[in-house]
Amino acid sequence: MSIGVESIPGARRLIKSLRDMGYEFESAVADLIDNSIAARANTVRINSHWAGADSYVSIADNGVGMSPQELREALRFGAERDYDDDDLGKFGLGLKTASLSQCRKLIVASRQNESRADINAYCWDMAHIEATNKWEILPVRSADMPEQVRLHLKETTGTVVIWQQLDRILGYNNPDGEPARKRLIEMCRKLEEHVAMVFHRFLENKVRGKRLAIYIQDDKVTPWDPFVANEPKRKALEPLSLRVDGHYGRSDVVFEPYVLPAQSMFSSPEAHKRASGPNQWNRQQGFYIYRADRLIQSGGWSGIRTIDEHLKLARIAVFFSPKLDEEFKINVPKMKVAFPAEIRADVEKAVKTWTKVADETYRTANKNAGAASPAPAPLPAAPVAAKGSWKLPTSPAPSPATSGALGNPGYSNANVPVPPTNGAGVTSEELARVGRLLKRVAKPDELPVIDAAVARAQSTLEA
Ligand SMILES: Nc1ncnc2c1ncn2[C@@H]1O[C@H](COP(=O)(O)OP(=O)(O)O)[C@@H](O)[C@H]1O
Ligand SMILES: [Mg+2]
Repeated sequence: MSIGVESIPGARRLIKSLRDMGYEFESAVADLIDNSIAARANTVRINSHWAGADSYVSIADNGVGMSPQELREALRFGAERDYDDDDLGKFGLGLKTASLSQCRKLIVASRQNESRADINAYCWDMAHIEATNKWEILPVRSADMPEQVRLHLKETTGTVVIWQQLDRILGYNNPDGEPARKRLIEMCRKLEEHVAMVFHRFLENKVRGKRLAIYIQDDKVTPWDPFVANEPKRKALEPLSLRVDGHYGRSDVVFEPYVLPAQSMFSSPEAHKRASGPNQWNRQQGFYIYRADRLIQSGGWSGIRTIDEHLKLARIAVFFSPKLDEEFKINVPKMKVAFPAEIRADVEKAVKTWTKVADETYRTANKNAGAASPAPAPLPAAPVAAKGSWKLPTSPAPSPATSGALGNPGYSNANVPVPPTNGAGVTSEELARVGRLLKRVAKPDELPVIDAAVARAQSTLEA
């Protein structure tokens, strides 16, 4: 056998691309919470502190912490350790890639010793890598230890992650400006919604041996249950279990379908509003896919069908084990999965049954509401690309770039009327522009739908 020649990646360039794996602020923090849960923490505290260019975000847990050696390994891209069957870790990348997707300087400090507050800390600093082109972490001397690290780890074992130089959060140009401050506040608000949803099963104490409380700016996060277990009119349909022969062994994928009550059947208007979820009713329909009890995907039909106003009461919990990671094609930011090919046909069939009940529940409630009072105009029944109605895929929060351009930042559930066709008021270029805007905010499985809808609308223009 010939002798290999080691070919070490260029640190300066590779680390820059690793910053762009697709994390957003919320998903990046969620990845760190995964680490805290894996380290058996029962409390995670997230704080952001605004101070212009010196602003920081800290994520502190009371888990088992790391020895100096474990800490150095943890900071290595592609860190190695053994994973349990229900482990939330996976690639050995999250701590670094999630953090550096948001900041230029990452400090990780940890205390493992229960009886003595020995704290070890290292940092990844983009400036150092740019200057040296080396995969080097820097030890943090105790004199330079951030105060909040010392305060937290004085009381408990655990780990504190600090993000400094928040270039991605504050924007590059004016980190001291008012817009940057507002952006940080808004991101923390969205973060609360996100973690309340992603970790709701842990926060509700439904995961054996993994009780968890999360605090954001010292406020305890209240779990958000997509399936409104406390609503008496909620319907739980027959669960379904599908066996998958995975690369790492056999495992069942469990489906628990629910039909939520229609608006008029909720116990209170507030309960109905809260059940709407971070992305609003329409977009929250569909699958809620959990890997080891942690939510990966919240809503959407994974390409099996399109979002439809009539099906907004349908929400289906799907549970899979990390054993089936290969088959579910989980990605690094843990934001995307796909159903294994071998169960897809069965899922499609079951979805038809479940959505039928949801559809009937919605229509019956609408009819009854109509009988009681003059009905509001019924919402169009057609799926996204159907003739005669044109629905915008919704967005969790339109980015500043798109909201202004669309002129309607609150469009998340809008049933947008068909653009005037046959040249009446909309040009082919305008349509193409809207298509591009939509694609910027769409989830991957919505992209073909947008393309199809725009193409159809284009063809009516040209006709
Ligand atoms: N909060 C934490 N407490 C204890 N250990 C941690 C913590 N965060 C990360 N680690 C250690 O660092 C390793 C690397 O973390 P990460 O880069 O997120 O990859 P992964 O979680 O996929 O293993 C983890 O496997 C774990 O051993
Ligand atoms: Mg991790």
